Amino acid sequence: MTDRARLLPLIQALASARVAVAGDVMLDIYVGGTVDRISPEAPIPVLRVERETAMPGGAGNVARNVAALGASARLTAAVGADDAGRRLRELIAAETRLTGELVADPSRQTSIKTRYVGGRQQMLRTDRETVAPLGADARRRLIAGVRAALADCAVLVLSDYGKGALADGVAAQLIAEAKQAKRAVVVDPKGRDWSPYAGADVVTPNKRELAEAAGMDVAGDATVVAAGRALIARHRLGAVLATLGADGMILVRADGRHEHFRAEAREVFDVSGAGDTAVAALSALLATGASLADAALIANVAAGIVVGKAGTAVVHGDELAHALHHQDLMDAEAKILTRAQILERVRAWRAAKLRIGFTNGCFDLLHPGHVSLFAQARAAVLASLAAVDAVVVFAEDTPLTLIEALRPDLLVKGADYTRDNVVGGSLVEQWGGRVLLAEIAPGHSTSATIAKLAR
Ligand SMILES: Nc1ncnc2c1ncn2[C@@H]1O[C@H](COP(=O)(O)OP(=O)(O)OP(=O)(O)O)[C@@H](O)[C@H]1O
Ligand SMILES: [Mg+2]
Repeated sequence: MTDRARLLPLIQALASARVAVAGDVMLDIYVGGTVDRISPEAPIPVLRVERETAMPGGAGNVARNVAALGASARLTAAVGADDAGRRLRELIAAETRLTGELVADPSRQTSIKTRYVGGRQQMLRTDRETVAPLGADARRRLIAGVRAALADCAVLVLSDYGKGALADGVAAQLIAEAKQAKRAVVVDPKGRDWSPYAGADVVTPNKRELAEAAGMDVAGDATVVAAGRALIARHRLGAVLATLGADGMILVRADGRHEHFRAEAREVFDVSGAGDTAVAALSALLATGASLADAALIANVAAGIVVGKAGTAVVHGDELAHALHHQDLMDAEAKILTRAQILERVRAWRAAKLRIGFTNGCFDLLHPGHVSLFAQARAAVLASLAAVDAVVVFAEDTPLTLIEALRPDLLVKGADYTRDNVVGGSLVEQWGGRVLLAEIAPGHSTSATIAKLAR
């Protein structure tokens, strides 16, 4: 149904939402160029480098996505005392609505993932990183940083990439801090053992992570739900939101209820980072006070947008608003039918023992909005009305042949008509139908509006 527009105020509310993000950050470097020869030294392509870009990855990308949506993000994470760490600090400082507390741990190498891309083809990824728990001092500063962020953030996101920032009890301690401050906790998990996430409000595994943690094969919806329920019970979670790539998402709740959000059908360009966008949107929406179901629905829409963009991209609040609005228009367009389609639909309605009503008219002065096909615009506007179930555009001067084909039970026109001059009226009465002359709402008349415009 066309009820997605009711979510638009939540998108506006993002402007005052605040999210704390903690976990593993990395520096994502993209080295792009062209390949037009094979190396003479070894059977490998030669990448002629044309550009290099760097951006915050992992928890940094989640925070960036929160900020892009229009909410404020406070990132707390650990880096090494090195150039990559300094570069990450600069990149984060340059983002609007994003503040970062990057704790330097001299015992670590800042995680760097470098992707070499020839044309659109990823050729090689190199990782430089330390995978180990934080040193005692960094750990203390990280926890203090999150505690400070929790003072003014409604939601805490733990973005675990398994590099160690959340290891060795840090995740559990941060969850305890959030609980004490009465903040919701969203965890993007890593690894088999979810006991460090015990008590979290939502955990957002992808399919593989879910299967690993539940210790069972996950194939269809039923197994996703079973795995989700098992993990919820085992770790006292509020919910599991399983992200299933092209199959969308399934939300499983502590009371056992579940809901499947189908992937938004659109062109898929690059799925990397879709998980980060989903977690960011879910958390930012929860921070507006949205329900878990609404936040998950919008997270699924956001992830559907980001997979249509190249690289590890972000989604902006206005894109989200547009997608929600556009979906409304698409729902409306689904009501615009050809004659063959309307006959089929009417047959189905009859089979369901529904009575068929019919009306017709010239509705051009309704506002067509941004409907692309002008010829269909008036139909789209009509179809977007909740009270209208189907719209057929006809070219004849009167709807007589359409009425004959559909055999409606009820023919509705305004009371400015009389029983005698309603086209098709006597026909409908022949098969036992009725003509209803609807009361005229005073002050609204197309003829009067046209007269006013012509003046
Ligand atoms: N091929 C696709 N078509 C449509 N939507 C997709 C596709 N892949 C991902 N999505 C959307 O993105 C969401 C998250 O993707 P996915 O389940 O792959 O997460 P992930 O494995 O954590 O991703 P990553 O770790 O690469 O960021 C999905 O729930 C879905 O809404
Ligand atoms: Mg992921």
